Amino acid sequence: MSITQELRQTAAAMVAPGRGILAADESVPTITSRFRALGIDSTPESRRRYRELLFTAPGIDAHVSGVIMHDETFQQADSSGRPFPEVLAARGILPGIKVDTGAKALAFSDDERVTEGLDGLRERIAAYRTLGARFAKWRAVFTIGFQRPSANCIRANAHALARYAAICQEGGVVPIVEPEVLADGDHGLGRCDEVTRHVLDAVFSELRLARVDLAGMVLKPSMVTPGRTCARAAEVEEVARATIACLADTVPASVPGIAFLSGGQAPDVATAHLDAMARLGPHPWQLSFSFGRALQDEALRTWAGDEANVAAAQAVLLRRVQLVGA
Ligand code: 13P
Repeated sequence: MSITQELRQTAAAMVAPGRGILAADESVPTITSRFRALGIDSTPESRRRYRELLFTAPGIDAHVSGVIMHDETFQQADSSGRPFPEVLAARGILPGIKVDTGAKALAFSDDERVTEGLDGLRERIAAYRTLGARFAKWRAVFTIGFQRPSANCIRANAHALARYAAICQEGGVVPIVEPEVLADGDHGLGRCDEVTRHVLDAVFSELRLARVDLAGMVLKPSMVTPGRTCARAAEVEEVARATIACLADTVPASVPGIAFLSGGQAPDVATAHLDAMARLGPHPWQLSFSFGRALQDEALRTWAGDEANVAAAQAVLLRRVQLVGA
């Protein structure tokens, strides 16, 4: 099989009907703040135990096609010493790795960020691939505000996403391309729609320039919603219709799948939005999920750092992936 065929097959498997991606790639500072909020100590061992709970939860393989890990987790192993990428692969779950090094201050801008991590990326992708990675993730963030995001911020992030995606594909790893329009702010749904369209247009224009095979990638966008502090909330149906209309105008049909992030939406809300969008189909691409908080929050709260709660937390995770998968 050629590398292109293999990438296309992997991308299709990531968004296979009824299955989606568990985003468990929180950086050490991020998972530490989520642990702290629940009074859980954050050490390499407590983080390892938490990820073992997630990755070995009985039954989740029916709905979880892949797991995104952070470097620390990718190098860790289960209690019997089996590396996590192998643990997942043995269950038919594709191992994935977050490869960006974070959103850093954009020069000549006091409030915008550009995601970094291109230096040495080719070598890192090759090393992760040897350790079993089948896909990677790179997240760019865009904040909505007065004259924000700027044209410079959109162009810089779209360009970096495309260079990352091309390097991944050259190295035999499927890129998840994640341009996240943040929900922070009091803007309305219409403004989110406008910004998301600009961002996606720029991203696909750069992906084409970089000769990325659109059939061998997965898009991970945010949904079109009003800002978190907007005075007017939107109905589930309104979010679903706006999001699908936006994507239909900007995402080529050759992209096999769209795996949404949850962006801080409550688990039930994110699940309802995805369900409503699926019902508006058929769509040219497979609709799926790559949720972090919306899949993990309930399980993390149930576990609360106590070994006695592992089975209960795994049952809660299974219930949520069943709902989202459906
Ligand atoms: P959330 O679903 O919690 O937004 O996380 C998804 C993700 O991977 C963000 O990069």
